[in-house]
Amino acid sequence: MRCEALHYTNPGDFWLPPFFLRCVKAAAQDTVSLSWGMFSYRHAFHAGNHADVLKHTVLLAVLRHMVQKDAALTVFDTHAGAGLYRLDGDYAQTSAEAADGFLKLVASKPDQPFAPALQDYVDLVASFNKKDSHKVYPGSPFIIQRVLQERDRDKLKLFEIHPTDTKTLTANIAQLEAGRQVAILREDGFEGIKKFLPPPSRRALVFCDPSYELKTDYGRVAVMVADSLQRFVTGTYAVWYPIIPRPEAHDLPKKLKTLANKAGKSWLGATLTVKSSKLLQDGAGEVIRPGLPASGMFIINPPHTLKAALQLALPQMVALLKQDQHAAFTLESGG
Ligand SMILES: C[S@@+](CC[C@H](N)C(=O)[O-])C[C@H]1O[C@@H](n2cnc3c(N)ncnc32)[C@H](O)[C@@H]1O
Repeated sequence: MRCEALHYTNPGDFWLPPFFLRCVKAAAQDTVSLSWGMFSYRHAFHAGNHADVLKHTVLLAVLRHMVQKDAALTVFDTHAGAGLYRLDGDYAQTSAEAADGFLKLVASKPDQPFAPALQDYVDLVASFNKKDSHKVYPGSPFIIQRVLQERDRDKLKLFEIHPTDTKTLTANIAQLEAGRQVAILREDGFEGIKKFLPPPSRRALVFCDPSYELKTDYGRVAVMVADSLQRFVTGTYAVWYPIIPRPEAHDLPKKLKTLANKAGKSWLGATLTVKSSKLLQDGAGEVIRPGLPASGMFIINPPHTLKAALQLALPQMVALLKQDQHAAFTLESGG
């Protein structure tokens, strides 16, 4: 079995796909050495999945609005990943998650044109590929940089803690020749962000997209957002989270809502469910894990245009990415 990225994982991670858990078992049997720390999550396995469709569509819509103003903007990506992924590479092929996400979207023949936010996202991904090819998928660093590239005054700070992903990210970003506009910091994004807030530009987007490989990530997101709001209450904060049967996952959006309300700031929450979260059994009585059934984005100080944009895009995501009758979306806002 090929699972070259594997060092160690937390088998309690409900939403890791079945192949990944098989890798974990294989690794345990092969007594793969723990070459460093405890992080095994590699976004390459998940690139272009339904969660990426949601998070990157929202990220792009937020950014598009923020760059309409001339004033300089700083964007922080607290959990950057490798930056660029191949959908025909070993990692992506092993899990084939993009087949149920981005690839399904672009292969669909919807009755109506894509909603503008969804079309913008599809076009942006397409711009990294040759015509009619979908081999390359840009992660958040490349999506953000693409939007900022014409604006020298803007800055992008990328945090990534995994040594291999940091190396890949560094090599990928180097090709952009973006100079001092983009900085890569190999450090803990939850902590690292503190020294940059408030930014000199006084305009910032903090995009927080952890792997939630560690249960403590849920609490750390809330602590980071609470601390950041104290340092810089007018910043825009966009947090992705998985929706899985785990108390911490359910609590996180509630905590973020409370933080926004306490700070007197507006917020928006969007979720996308593509299938039921119920465990199934195969013919032999083995439990089949469903993989990630749903995820959400929570934004504090969202652009005023975001809700209307998602009201059009989310129903299409449901219609085009649904895997069973449990597929649905929610969209709420407040503050
Ligand atoms: C979900 S992936 C990021 C995907 C990326 N944001 C995108 O949309 O393309 C999460 C990444 O966070 C990294 N990571 C985990 N804990 C971290 C931490 N405390 N600080 C910074 N990066 C971390 C992981 O190595 C992984 O690459």
